[in-house]
Amino acid sequence: HAEAIMETRPPVVTVMGHVDHGKTSLLDYIRRSRVASGEAGGITQHIGAYHVETPRGMVTFLDTPGHEAFTAMRARGAKATDVVILVVAADDGVMPQTIEAIHHAKAGNVPLVVAVNKIDKPSAAPERVKMELVAQEVVPEDFGGETMFVEVSAKTGQGIDALLEAVLLQAEVLELTAAKNTPAKGLVIEGRLDKGRGPVTTVLVQSGTLKRGDMLLAGTAYGRVRAMLDEAGNEVKEAGPSIPVEILGLSDVPNAGDEVIVLNDERKAREIALFRQGKFRDVKLAKQQA
Ligand code: GTP
Ligand code: NA
Ligand code: MG
Repeated sequence: HAEAIMETRPPVVTVMGHVDHGKTSLLDYIRRSRVASGEAGGITQHIGAYHVETPRGMVTFLDTPGHEAFTAMRARGAKATDVVILVVAADDGVMPQTIEAIHHAKAGNVPLVVAVNKIDKPSAAPERVKMELVAQEVVPEDFGGETMFVEVSAKTGQGIDALLEAVLLQAEVLELTAAKNTPAKGLVIEGRLDKGRGPVTTVLVQSGTLKRGDMLLAGTAYGRVRAMLDEAGNEVKEAGPSIPVEILGLSDVPNAGDEVIVLNDERKAREIALFRQGKFRDVKLAKQQA
C-alpha cells in the first residue's frame, strides 16, 4: 500500500433547522436550481447531498428534514458534517427542531453558523431570534459570543454570499484534510431499492478515493461498485474525500449511517456482511471483527 498523503479536503456542511424555515430553499438558491418547489409538498423526507463549486472552493452540502419525525436523520447529518448551518426563520424564531439541531451539533462538537432566514418578510424579527438563541447558549459575536449570525433571504438572495463566506471561514479554521491516495472510507447517507437498478446507495466519501470496480462492505451489504453517479446523475469513475456519490452494485440496501470501507477480498466482504445479517456464524471471523 502507498503511504497516505494528507491533502486539504472540502468541508461537509449540514443544513439543519425547524420544518419550513427554508433549509432546502437556501440550498436551492445556492445551487440555483428548483429543488424545494420540486419536492412533493415541499417537505424534505431524506438527506440530500450536493457538492457545489464556490469562488473559494468546493463545498458539500447535506440537506436534512425539519419534520419532527426525522430526529435520527438529523443526528446522522450532524455526525457526517464539519459545520452546521442552523436555519432559523426570522418570523417564526426558535422552535423545537431548532433546539434539537443545536443539541445534535453540540453533541457532535460541530461548529454552528446561524442563518437567520426570511429576512425579507415584514414580520421578520432578527433581534428576537438572537435573544432566543442566546437563551439556548448560542451566542452571536456582537454579544461577546463565538457564533457567526448572518441575515439571509432564500427568496431574494440577500446575505447568501455572506453566509457562504462565514461557512468557509469557519471551515478554514478547522484545517480539514484527508488522504486521497488510499482506498475509500465513507458513510452511507441513504439507501433505497430502485425497481430497475436494484440497491442505490448514496455514499459520502470521507477519506481515500472510491473507484468504480471497488469491492465494498457497507453495514450488512457488500458488492462491487458497478456504476457511480454524481447528484446530477452523471457517471463518474471516482470520488475523493467529501464527495457524495450514488453507487450501484451492492447486494442489499444498507442503513443510513453505516460505515463504508473498501475490502478488495470479495469472499471476506461477503462473509462479514452475512455475519452482520446473522446468517453466518464463524467464531474465527467473529473474533476478527470484534
Ligand atoms: P422542511 O424540509 O420541510 O423541513 O422545510 P425547509 O426548511 O426545507 O423549508 P423550505 O425550503 O421547504 O421552505 C418552506 C417555505 O418557506 C416555502 O414556501 C418557501 O418558499 C418559503 N421560504 C423559504 N425561504 C424563504 C425566504 O427567505 N423568504 C420567504 N419569504 N419565504 C421563504
Ligand atoms: Na418545507
Ligand atoms: Mg427541506
